[in-house]
Amino acid sequence: MNLADRLKNDPFLKRLSDLLGEREAYVVGGYPRDLFLGKRSPDIDIVVLKDVRKFVEPIRELGPVDFRFSEFMTAKFLFPDGRVLDLARARRERYPCPAVLPEVEPAESIEEDLWRRDFSINAMAISLKRTNFGELIDPTGGLEDLQRGRIRVLKEGSFRDDPTRAYRAIRYSLRFNFSYDSLTEREFDLARKYVRLLSFPRIENELRRGSAEERRAEFFHEAEARGLFPWEHRKPALKELKDLDGLLAERKEEDWILFFALFLPEGPGVLEFVHSLPLGKPEKKALLDFLGLRDEEIEMDPGEFHLKHGKSAEEALLVLAAFRPALRDFILDYLERKKKATPQISARELIEMGFTGRKIGEILKKIEILRLQGKIRTKEEERSFVQSQLDERSGR
Ligand code: CTP
Repeated sequence: MNLADRLKNDPFLKRLSDLLGEREAYVVGGYPRDLFLGKRSPDIDIVVLKDVRKFVEPIRELGPVDFRFSEFMTAKFLFPDGRVLDLARARRERYPCPAVLPEVEPAESIEEDLWRRDFSINAMAISLKRTNFGELIDPTGGLEDLQRGRIRVLKEGSFRDDPTRAYRAIRYSLRFNFSYDSLTEREFDLARKYVRLLSFPRIENELRRGSAEERRAEFFHEAEARGLFPWEHRKPALKELKDLDGLLAERKEEDWILFFALFLPEGPGVLEFVHSLPLGKPEKKALLDFLGLRDEEIEMDPGEFHLKHGKSAEEALLVLAAFRPALRDFILDYLERKKKATPQISARELIEMGFTGRKIGEILKKIEILRLQGKIRTKEEERSFVQSQLDERSGR
């Protein structure tokens, strides 16, 4: 099958093909899959049969803004429109033990490279070689699976070699509304068994990618249900996950930590667990702030709440709103009020009015609380409040 006609809408590939001339190169993975689904994949994975260095010069003629060699046998190009082109040498993989990164060596043919991949729908290639530009290479039957709406692994043991593929399967099945074939369905049992051998950053990476998906609440729910969360955890209902999704503005990878918060263990070891995770500071703070609120008795007064929990990350409060629906309206209202709670009066004005030192911070804090409680709304009201404090001090 030749796809040259379909590729016309994306002149980038044609130009790339012209520059590559008779060199053997293929666009693989997400791009061909999305082309058949009528979507334009933003990123392009190119596989070549020779040393990638031989391909760098022609690709640079397309005007990337950045270019670097990454892991062995690969290079990455970034284009002004945000497009990313990954260049890799065709390879074969050997997994010395389950769940570790494979040993790789160059493959002899594109077909061999396609057979080592995760699913048939991701194992198609389109030739960029000028003389057969657009030729589809589909040794595993990916197109048929795409048409039937089927996620199918390419060999038994695929999820034992690489349990991250189980998370990927869920992402694709939800994104495209596809089902799993019977072998893939059985592979989930292997994934459940071996997922605990994955390093946490590899799991995090999958959760990040899941968090950018439209049906991310379902992604987290299914990943848990299929045993892919290898730590002691609570099991949030799908509704809770959907509520959280609804509370967050846009879908982005960084949100993964907020969904993760709902899967924290419930027992006393939870703090130790959080501290043991290899996470950045803001992520740990979000989790710890949430834990500080999770089982706390909360007085629904915005001023009181602010005094106790005002330093909590906003994200932690959103997780709390999903976790404790009875607090939802209160929290959303508090967050709205908080936006308008910054005192208008300046420290300078307070000094002019006779306040000094620590007193200035105290008075500003009081104004903030009164604003949160709706007792002060304008700068004028702030001034009268400050005046009343002065009067109190001087005993007037
Ligand atoms: N791949 C694989 N096994 C993995 C990860 C990736 O076989 N564990 C292969 C698949 O062929 C995949 C390609 O590498 O298509 C590129 O991976 P990635 O960029 O993660 O996926 P995309 O197909 O681009 O999917 P998405 O649309 O989710 O970005």
